[in-house]
Amino acid sequence: MVVYSPHKVILFGEHAVVYGYPALSATVDLFAKIYLVPSRSGLQYTPFVQKTLSYLGLSNVYVKVETNVPSGSGLGTSSMIITSILLSERDYTKEKLANEAFNIEYETQGLGSPIDTTTIAAGGFVLTNGKEGVPLWKIEKNGISWNFSSVPTRNTEMVIVYSGSKGSTKEQVAKVRKFYERGKFAKDIMNRIGSITEDGVKAVMKGDAANIGELMNENHSELKVFGISTDQIERIVSVGREYGYGAKLTGAGGGGAVVIIPREKEKLIKKLKEMNVMVFDTSTTSAGIFKRSE
Ligand code: MEV
Repeated sequence: MVVYSPHKVILFGEHAVVYGYPALSATVDLFAKIYLVPSRSGLQYTPFVQKTLSYLGLSNVYVKVETNVPSGSGLGTSSMIITSILLSERDYTKEKLANEAFNIEYETQGLGSPIDTTTIAAGGFVLTNGKEGVPLWKIEKNGISWNFSSVPTRNTEMVIVYSGSKGSTKEQVAKVRKFYERGKFAKDIMNRIGSITEDGVKAVMKGDAANIGELMNENHSELKVFGISTDQIERIVSVGREYGYGAKLTGAGGGGAVVIIPREKEKLIKKLKEMNVMVFDTSTTSAGIFKRSE
């Protein structure tokens, strides 16, 4: 079976979602084609691929991943690969797929939330721990619960830019956790991110690009306090704000990608290309992961 998996963006609430605060994510119209081929060479895999293959009792296979999006970009690649390997071998309900993929990801990383695996399995706009939308499912781990809902709305145009350096989710989540465990100041930031997300969902439901952009700018400023942005991300964000409604880092940070809501799209893309960065002119999609025989 060949699996097609969309990449994902987090529009609001990354990091805060790890502690159970609200977040809004979506699948984007950038798909990877992922499939297994026989192999006898005893290849070395990344730990999460190894874990997924041994969970399924598979050996002597190679996992082919065809995508233009670099790994470590914060656009969901590792969750996509875990989810795709599972789906290529077994039939699943979306909920069961999201659960099993999250368990494998969590066992490998030892931290994080189920936002990526759920978004990829469900497709479309996914709200975590918010009030809007149609309930999907709930996942719990270590006393934190994540209630997911699907927010059916028009797709949003976005320009996604890879900053050129990989970000490590594990390192960035650990960095933010140190602030979070130290006291009130980080919790206040998470609370503010939570209310930005709640306003953000309403803006997305209205299709109000200007408001979505403004709230993304606010969310980015809050995230910057944790030291998870980079000089290059800041350069991209400032071009994004000049020619777009708003811009922010997406995912764990420390490298990775920036998401921009375009206003003057041609100029925006021209300016970004002059910076020699990888640019994806895309939009959200209602599709989640799917498979077919080829
Ligand atoms: C996920 O793409 C980004 C983080 O929120 C980590 C997580 O939720 O697992 C930083």
